[in-house]
Amino acid sequence: MIHRHASGLFALLCYSILLSISGCASSDVSIGQTDDLAVDDARLLAADRSSWLTHGGTYAEQRYSPLSQINESNVDSLGLAWSFDMQSERGVESTPLVADGVLYVTAPWSILHALDAASGEHQWTFDPLVPRSMARQICCGVVNRGAALYADRVFIGTLDGRLIAIDRDTGREEWSVDTREPEWPYSITGAPRVVEGKVIIGNAGADLGARGYVSAYDAENGELVWRTYTVPGNPANGFESAAMEYAATTWNGQWWKAGGGGTVWDALAYDPELRLLYVGTGNGTPHVRWLRSPGGGDNLYLSSILALRPDTGELVWHYQTTPGDSWDYTATQHILLADLEIDGRTRKVLMQAPKNGFFFVIDRTNGEFISAKPFANVTWASHVDESGRPVETDTDYREVAKFVRPSPYGAHSWPPMSFHPKTGLVYLPVRDMGAIYKMDAAWDYKPGRWNTGIDMAVYEDFGSDESDFSWEAYLLAWDPIEQREVWRLPHITAFNGGTLSTADNLLFEGSADGRFVAYRASDGAKLWESPVGTGVMAGPITYEIDGEQYVAVAAGWGASFAMSGGDAALRAKVRGGARVLAWKLGGDAVLPPGRPPLGPVPAPSYAIESTATERRRGMILYQEECSVCHGPGAIGGGSGVPDLRYMAESTHAVFPRIVLEGLREPGGMPRFDDLFDAGDVRMIQAWILEQARIGSEKSAP
Ligand code: HEC
Repeated sequence: MIHRHASGLFALLCYSILLSISGCASSDVSIGQTDDLAVDDARLLAADRSSWLTHGGTYAEQRYSPLSQINESNVDSLGLAWSFDMQSERGVESTPLVADGVLYVTAPWSILHALDAASGEHQWTFDPLVPRSMARQICCGVVNRGAALYADRVFIGTLDGRLIAIDRDTGREEWSVDTREPEWPYSITGAPRVVEGKVIIGNAGADLGARGYVSAYDAENGELVWRTYTVPGNPANGFESAAMEYAATTWNGQWWKAGGGGTVWDALAYDPELRLLYVGTGNGTPHVRWLRSPGGGDNLYLSSILALRPDTGELVWHYQTTPGDSWDYTATQHILLADLEIDGRTRKVLMQAPKNGFFFVIDRTNGEFISAKPFANVTWASHVDESGRPVETDTDYREVAKFVRPSPYGAHSWPPMSFHPKTGLVYLPVRDMGAIYKMDAAWDYKPGRWNTGIDMAVYEDFGSDESDFSWEAYLLAWDPIEQREVWRLPHITAFNGGTLSTADNLLFEGSADGRFVAYRASDGAKLWESPVGTGVMAGPITYEIDGEQYVAVAAGWGASFAMSGGDAALRAKVRGGARVLAWKLGGDAVLPPGRPPLGPVPAPSYAIESTATERRRGMILYQEECSVCHGPGAIGGGSGVPDLRYMAESTHAVFPRIVLEGLREPGGMPRFDDLFDAGDVRMIQAWILEQARIGSEKSAP
C-alpha cells in the first residue's frame, strides 16, 4: 500500500560528511526500498529530494528541487495525475509534505489528510475538532500552513493552540500539548519544524493582543524544552533573560497590558552547520506605535529576525526590519538561506521580503546587514541606510489619515518564495498596495478583541473606490546580489501562490485566478498552464515516486485577502474549494469543476426602516467586527465566507439569531452577543441591506 523509498544509508554517509563540510544538500537520494523507514535527523539533513520532508523542502527553505524528469523541453506534456477534494470552501495555505510515498496535507480548521502521493488515494484523516466558536480569535481565516515529519510521526499545530503528534501509519494521536498561555487569545496557523529532535512552533494573535513567543517541545513526548519570548513582559515581574531586559529599554509606557505582540506565526529556518534557528516575529499590539509605546522606542523584538540556539532558545543575534513598526509590517515572512557570492566573498546569507516592501539580505552567521532594496512601491521609508536602519518618511497618522505603501497585507506575506541556484534569482508573489492609516485616539485595550488602534471609520470615506487604491500584483524575479528586479509578470489580483524552483530552469506558481503555471525561470516565459478550479495561494512541491516526478499544490481561495479584499479580491473570479492537485508527464486525470463565481447582486426583497445615522453606526460596527471575514463595504471576495449582499430573505429573517445566538456557529460564524444587542444588530443589518441595494444597482445592466 505505501511505497517506501529508502535513503538511510546514503543519508548517514552524507550526515557524517556534513559534520566536516556542508554540501550534501543538493544530492538526489532515491535509493532502493525498505519498510519501516523513519524521518530521522540524518534524512532531514541529507535533504532527500525524492521526498518533500520539511515545509520549505529543506532546512534552508529554498523550495528548490533538482528533480529534472520534468524540464523545459517536456513540461508542456504535464497532465493531471490526481486530485483530492478537501471538502471545504475556506482558504488553503498549506505546503504538503511527502515521505515514503505518502503525502500529508493540512486543510482548513487544522485538519490533516494522508494521501497516497502517487494516486491521491485517501489513507486517513485526523480532525483535531477545533471548536468553531473560536473563529473570532483568528485574524485571517481558519487556515493552516502545514505539518512537520519526524521519526514515525507527523506534527500539526491547531487553531486553538494545540501541538499534536500523530502516528504516520494509523493517523492516531500520540500526544497533544496546549501551547497557549491562558491570558492571551493565541492561535496556530504556521507549520512546525523539527530541529535536533525538538518540535519548534510559534503562534499568532498580535492583532488581538498577545505576547509573542516561540517554543520547542521534545518530539518524543511533547515536553516543553524551552520557550523564548519575543517582547518583554511587565518589568515588575522580572525578565526571563538578558535579551528581554535589553528589549525592555526600547519600550515605553505599559505595553505589556496588551501583550506587546511580536507573535511568531510563520517563518522558521535552520542552519545545521551554524546550529542557528531563525525565527521571524510579527507586528505589535496595538499596531499604532503612539498607543503601544508612548514616548517612542524601537520596540524590540517586533518585526525582527531572531537567531536562536536550537537547544536552549537563547538569542544569539537579532535584526529588526521595521523599528517601532506602526503599519503591521511583520517580519514573519519566509526566511530563505543560501550562500551567495557578494563582492568577491562567499557570504552565508538569509533573505527575507517582509511586509514592509524591502528585500533584505543579512549575514546569517552574525546578523550583519548586507543590503536592502524596495521590491514594491514603499512610502513609509525612503531607503535602508548603510547601518541597516530604514529611514522613515513622515507618516504620522495621529491627527490626519495617511495613505501609506505597503498596506497591512504586506508587499509580500506568507506565500513562500523560492531560490533557484541555477539562475541565482529569488521568485516571489508581490502585491503593491497601500492603505489608509488613522489612529483611533479613543482606543483602549479590549481583551480578546481586535486591538489594532486603527480607526476603522476612515474606510467610509475611502470605501472600496478603486481610484484611491491603485495597486498591482505581480510575480517577481529578483536578483538578491544586485538587489534588482530581473523580470516581472502581472497578476490579475493579489494573493497569488508561493513559488517552486526546479531542475535547470523551471519555476512553478499557482495564481489567485485559478491557474497553475510553469515558467522558464531565467526569463519568465510561460511554458505550460493548467486550470485549478479555485484560487491558489500556497506553495507547490515536487517529489518522485517509482521513477515518476510529480508537481503538487494545495489550492483553495479564501482567507485574509479573499475575506477582506472586497472588489479587489473579486477580480480573481474564483471561489473557495479546497483541493490538492498533482501533475506528472502524460497525466490524464480529469479536473473536477470549481464553483462558478457569484452572479449579479440581487435587489434585496427584505426591508428594515432606518435612518442615515443608524446606518452609519451600523457601518462602523460592521467594519470593526464583521469586515475581516465578510469584506469591507459588505463585499465578499469569493472566499468561503458568505457575501452578505446575497443573503436570502429567509436568512435576513433570522439575522439577529445568527449574530446573537450562534445559529451558524457550526459553520464558523461566531456569535456576538457579548458585544451587541438587538438594536446594534438591526443597524448593521440595515446598513448591509443598503450595500445590497447599491450592489444590485451597480450590477444592473
Ligand atoms: C471570523 C469570521 C467571521 C466574522 C468576524 C463574522 N462572520 Fe458572519 N459568517 C462567517 C462564516 C464562516 C459564515 C458561514 C457560516 C455557515 O456556512 O454556516 C457566516 C455567516 C453569516 C451570516 C449568514 C449568511 C448567509 O447567507 O447564510 C450572517 C447573517 C453573518 N454571518 C453576519 C455577520 C455579522 C453581522 C458579523 C459581524 C457582527 C459577522 N457575520 C462576523 C464568518 C464570520
